[in-house]
Amino acid sequence: MQRFSHKNKHLSGSDPTILIIGSNGQLGWELCKKGKSHGFNIIPTDIPKFDITDPAAVKTAVNQPGLSLVINASAYTAVDKAESEPETAFAVNRDGPAYLASSCNEAKIPLIHISTDYVFDGTREEPYLETDSISPIGIYGKSKAEGEGRVRLHLKEHIIIRTAWLYGIHGNNFVKTMLGLGKEKETLRVVADQYGCPTWAADLAGAILTIAGQIKERHDIPWGTYHYCGKGKTTWHGFAEKIFELAKQYDSFAIKKVIPVTTAEYPTPARRPLNSVMDCSMLINNFGISLIQWQKSLATMLSQNPTPINQTTTTTQA
Ligand SMILES: NC(=O)c1ccc[n+]([C@@H]2O[C@H](COP(=O)([O-])OP(=O)(O)OC[C@H]3O[C@@H](n4cnc5c(N)ncnc54)[C@H](OP(=O)(O)O)[C@@H]3O)[C@@H](O)[C@H]2O)c1
Repeated sequence: MQRFSHKNKHLSGSDPTILIIGSNGQLGWELCKKGKSHGFNIIPTDIPKFDITDPAAVKTAVNQPGLSLVINASAYTAVDKAESEPETAFAVNRDGPAYLASSCNEAKIPLIHISTDYVFDGTREEPYLETDSISPIGIYGKSKAEGEGRVRLHLKEHIIIRTAWLYGIHGNNFVKTMLGLGKEKETLRVVADQYGCPTWAADLAGAILTIAGQIKERHDIPWGTYHYCGKGKTTWHGFAEKIFELAKQYDSFAIKKVIPVTTAEYPTPARRPLNSVMDCSMLINNFGISLIQWQKSLATMLSQNPTPINQTTTTTQA
């Protein structure tokens, strides 16, 4: 299969063109912001203009002239709500990627698809490897795991990247929720027995665009599944404490104490893995991408003054 297939030749001299699906999401927004600086022409698309659960719309989008690569940053990411809306979660996270992968296969265009640490059940002590068996414990995780399976089934030339605990300037996430709550409340109860790797969406976008650049240049791309997340690990409680410690230099907050609680003391509709720390050495070795310490990325993101989300009570995210 031709990468950046010949049909682009008539576009020679122009930047290769990437379709970014889910362009209004946390990751999609960062990809659109950075795409040009990585030498790409970006076509952003998102709901309602484009619905990944509509196979005809997917086919049309993938067959637009001059397209070289597709990046799927769209998803149903509301972990708790997915428990009561399984049909929608599976339509967006499983069926959508299936339509996309088969259309990309027909059009001979490679695909970068994003998945999650929540495909794992969290019982492993050590960081999860790409080769570890997956066994999701919630609807969101199951729908994403089946989405991975559909992409592998329909398209050889794919890169699946599992990420975790994503936050960014744009969109809904734990960091902005904490900032909002920290403005209103003196104490917060946050789960302290779930371990994971906070990941800044801007870092993930940079890694994805670096891989896209290599897909353009290299002829030996090791297609397959990879892990990418912030370096190091913490708990939601540790994450919240670091958010306030760093954010206090930019703004004033009511928060005085973040109380560590157990998962059992904080029941949510969806179960979450107690350990979803991921080993990212395969991506580092195959694409030469280095990870950034999570606290360092968080400090950089907070220095960009994110707008807090005013919410009632939430402690964990997708
Ligand atoms: N967020 C996390 O903590 C996290 C952790 C691990 C993995 N991930 C994965 O990372 C990727 C990016 O996540 P994110 O946090 O950037 O997600 P996000 O902010 O929720 O963005 C997802 C985007 O997809 C759109 N979308 C929803 N249904 C769609 C449909 N039927 N057709 C087309 N677009 C649709 C959403 O629109 P609406 O907002 O209008 O619904 C939104 O703009 C996803 O694959 C996610 O599963 C995320």
